[in-house]
Amino acid sequence: MEKYYFINTYGCQMNVHESEKIAGILSERGYKETKDDSKASVIVFNTCCIRENAEDKIYGNIGILKKRKKTDKDLIIAVGGCMTQQNNMAEKLKKTFPFVDIIFGTHNLEEFGKLFDKKLTQKKSVIEVLEKEKEIIEGTPKKRTSFPNAWVNIMYGCNNFCTYCIVPFVRGRERSRKLDEIVRECESLIKDGYKEITLLGQNVNSYGKDLSNGTSFATLLNAVSKIDGKFRIRFMTNHPKDFTDEMIHAINSDDKICKCVHLPVQAGSDRILKLMNRHYDRAYYEDRLNTLRKIIPNSAVTTDIMVGFPTETEEDFLDTLNLVKNSNFGGAFTFVYSRRTGTVADKMEGQIPEDVATKRIMELIAVQNEINRNQSLNYIGKTVEILCEDYDDKKQLYLGRDEFNKMVYFFSETNVIGEFLDVKIVKAGGMSLYGELIKG
Ligand code: 5AD
Ligand code: SF4
Repeated sequence: MEKYYFINTYGCQMNVHESEKIAGILSERGYKETKDDSKASVIVFNTCCIRENAEDKIYGNIGILKKRKKTDKDLIIAVGGCMTQQNNMAEKLKKTFPFVDIIFGTHNLEEFGKLFDKKLTQKKSVIEVLEKEKEIIEGTPKKRTSFPNAWVNIMYGCNNFCTYCIVPFVRGRERSRKLDEIVRECESLIKDGYKEITLLGQNVNSYGKDLSNGTSFATLLNAVSKIDGKFRIRFMTNHPKDFTDEMIHAINSDDKICKCVHLPVQAGSDRILKLMNRHYDRAYYEDRLNTLRKIIPNSAVTTDIMVGFPTETEEDFLDTLNLVKNSNFGGAFTFVYSRRTGTVADKMEGQIPEDVATKRIMELIAVQNEINRNQSLNYIGKTVEILCEDYDDKKQLYLGRDEFNKMVYFFSETNVIGEFLDVKIVKAGGMSLYGELIKG
């Protein structure tokens, strides 16, 4: 009889890729993926704890399984990732959900297979969350889910300790993968037909610093772009504090490298940036934007912005709003600050009431939406090269993205997923564009 797994993934691209590793481990054991969790005999929660609402959702979804677990004795439920890695969280989870079979953290995700095998041989649950990160483990099988794009970890962890952020606590210090390992993985992906590689790290600018052999992110970009074949290279995230001129030149050094940078600004007020421990001020950030646009005029910058950080005044917020109005971001992920236990900001006086933060984020979203709309309108009449990534059943249209990550829908009689195509933009609708395929 076929056995199926279902993975619930919460949070960022890093987690999406880590779920591909969990999927790889389960596939090696003969399990197949299902999109219907009621058919699954293994259900995994790959969790996120960056904001409280992510955690609340996960709690709710694990709770739903309690009833099923009573009758379905063979069902295996595993909970892992960032949320379980927090202090005392494994015990708390075990108490709240005694029916969970496996609890693991971020530091032993690669060893999920061992924990899974152990569970199959014993009745009691397997709980293993390591306190500290280990050496990087290579060679974990991966069942990729985002063809023609492939996620590639280049480093793990973060050393920055922004005062609001839980990530350094749950993902440990920065560890870079060896350049050769990354290049070998990319070569094999291109050989397998992948057309886009996204290099992942909390702060890709720091890549290589811990290797102590002179390897840098620029060296890595250079090595990956030397791989033969037509493909795109994307990368995220860049911390503005060390987004140097050298980095900009490295991005500009090869056509394969997308001229699209995710450069989270977080806030436009110098006072708040300092309290956030971001190591830059607004003038510095704006200088980085201007320098990038001078060196690479045809480039796009996306960002992350937070409102409601402790003590944020109306004036601070207006600084953020004003920065956004002036920056012409190609897109922005906007967040309401969420208190995270263990972080410096959690202990700060002057936490902002929810209604104030909600009002601010609505205003911020409206401003950025207007910018998105204007950018989309500017596309009309232009021909762009897109990489087709999927088919939308509802719209009955194919979809893909241009170099700057703008989504484009278009009609094609044949299946063109994984192909580079020229599309003429004829209509703009909010964030998405609609175009006509130009027959080559
Ligand atoms: N509250 C709200 N947003 C947060 N982020 C990180 N920590 C928090 C938090 N405590 C946002 C930042 C970061 C993005 C990945 O998530 O904007 O860049
Ligand atoms: Fe969190 Fe700051 Fe590290 Fe990003 S750079 S993961 S926001 S601590």
